[in-house]
Amino acid sequence: MRYAILGDVHANKEALEAVLTHAQASGVQAYAQVGDVVGYGPDPAYCIDRLRELDCKICLGNHDAAVVRRLPLDVFNPFAKMALEWTMFELKKAHRDFLSELPLQLDLPEIDGVIAHGSLYKPESFDYVRSLASAARSLEMQTSKLCFVGHSHQPCLFVMYDDGRCDLLSIFKREGVYQIPVDSSEKLLVNVGSVGQPRDEDPRAAYVIYDTEDCTLQLIRVAYDIRVVQERIRQKGLPHVLAERLSYGL
Ligand SMILES: [Fe+2]
Repeated sequence: MRYAILGDVHANKEALEAVLTHAQASGVQAYAQVGDVVGYGPDPAYCIDRLRELDCKICLGNHDAAVVRRLPLDVFNPFAKMALEWTMFELKKAHRDFLSELPLQLDLPEIDGVIAHGSLYKPESFDYVRSLASAARSLEMQTSKLCFVGHSHQPCLFVMYDDGRCDLLSIFKREGVYQIPVDSSEKLLVNVGSVGQPRDEDPRAAYVIYDTEDCTLQLIRVAYDIRVVQERIRQKGLPHVLAERLSYGL
């Protein structure tokens, strides 16, 4: 089975559709999303509806949480906060109810995996995994083979070996394919990057395909028409900086 794991869609309909078109053409049969379906972007309701249509497994992101007051708005920067306040009024009750019920982490038993937004270590704190130390804290909580996260909007891949050592593998820097060793019990922590607002200086949408038969993890980048979403951000009265940053992947 080919399983697509998306992250941080951030209400970017154009990026989401580009990723879904690519995934469908690549034989993907199932989907998960690691949180932050909404926030920053102009099409939050569309993105929620589209992922639900696909029966996508979704966990709670910090922006999703803020929209339904599970997290205070004061922890966000002023531009993010403005977009969140706009999103609160844009969404219908059914969308807000859906976000209210999202779990902080969700097991994917069919692939011996789990999803969380930032880290499995106190997932309610939405900590970033950006160092070996923070990766180790999450990996120590991980009982499955695979954990998929997002939040930093920067794809990367950490491994914890049988002896407890952690490493950052460079394969995702090159859109590479990681071949999971068959006879190893290593655990993997995969940051799938961001569909709707990449921050690794590559403006293309990012997502990951896990192939359960080949035992591979592949980072994929998909180009899309950024100008369309930038125009919609301006039309909706959202801060212009949220449109401009998409051009640079920042
Ligand atoms: Fe995010």
